[in-house]
Amino acid sequence: MKKDRFSIVRNRLIATKTYQLVLEGGGMVDGEFVHIAVPGFFLRRPLSICDKEAGRLTIVYKVVGEGTRALSEMKEGTVLEVLTGLGRGFDPDACRCEALLVGGGLGAAPLYLLARELKAQGKKVTVVLGFNTADEIVMVREFEDICDTVAVSTLDGSVGVKGFVTDAIAGMARSYDYFYTCGPVVMMKAVCGMLECPGEASLEERMGCGAGFCYGCSIETKNGPRRVCKDGPVFKKEELLW
Ligand SMILES: Cc1cc2nc3c(=O)[nH]c(=O)nc-3n(C[C@H](O)[C@H](O)[C@H](O)COP(=O)(O)OP(=O)(O)OC[C@H]3O[C@@H](n4cnc5c(N)ncnc54)[C@H](O)[C@@H]3O)c2cc1C
Ligand code: FES
Repeated sequence: MKKDRFSIVRNRLIATKTYQLVLEGGGMVDGEFVHIAVPGFFLRRPLSICDKEAGRLTIVYKVVGEGTRALSEMKEGTVLEVLTGLGRGFDPDACRCEALLVGGGLGAAPLYLLARELKAQGKKVTVVLGFNTADEIVMVREFEDICDTVAVSTLDGSVGVKGFVTDAIAGMARSYDYFYTCGPVVMMKAVCGMLECPGEASLEERMGCGAGFCYGCSIETKNGPRRVCKDGPVFKKEELLW
């Protein structure tokens, strides 16, 4: 874990209540998520790394409460204190040749960096992204630029397949040797139940320290209690007790 200072290069609205935050500072950042101190709030806010290059981080976040609302009002040039090097992320090496990535809402964010890593390894990548409505859709064009196949589902049918990501997956009738998923628990549970191949899911829990010390994010797994911030947030399908 490392404490660093990053300045906001961009913080722009990209969909309903959804912002793309680009931060600059430090060197190459490790880990799956960052823990951002929002001035005026006691606890840091955990947000996934969507993309990164040396000295630059991209995050995509939704305004859900007061902390993310305050973040969304921050201007370019504002300096933020950020903990980096946190979390055990997706394992691109677990896929042999054909991966399915399934994201629900902002669950698309950490899958983007994974998609880039899988493509860099020469693997075939299919992405299915689910949203409630068209105005919530994010990152589809970015995934289309790098992945082999991208499908979208919306609950209201305004874009893509009408229904859930599981409807879109069923309609594609393809086989994969590994899957990765991030999004609402109910969606990830359905995806894990539907797919026969092995895979992994990225969980969200409320966090105190974000670095493995306070045990505030502990969950029960088939292998005993695990800390989402340190042992996860990504867990293998077979470890999870839904
Ligand atoms: C590992 C990880 C990665 C995440 N990545 C993203 C991302 O890339 N984009 C995104 O939009 N959101 C992401 N989230 C969810 C994000 O952390 C919450 O939406 C955010 O903390 C809400 O803060 P708030 O002050 O606006 O909401 P409030 O409801 O006011 O927050 C109150 C407290 O609850 C915590 N909290 C509320 N909702 C969540 C939640 N879903 N998960 C964890 N803590 C929560 C807050 O951090 C805060 O401590 C991630 C969560 C985790 C655990
Ligand atoms: S948040 Fe403190 S151990 Fe996970």
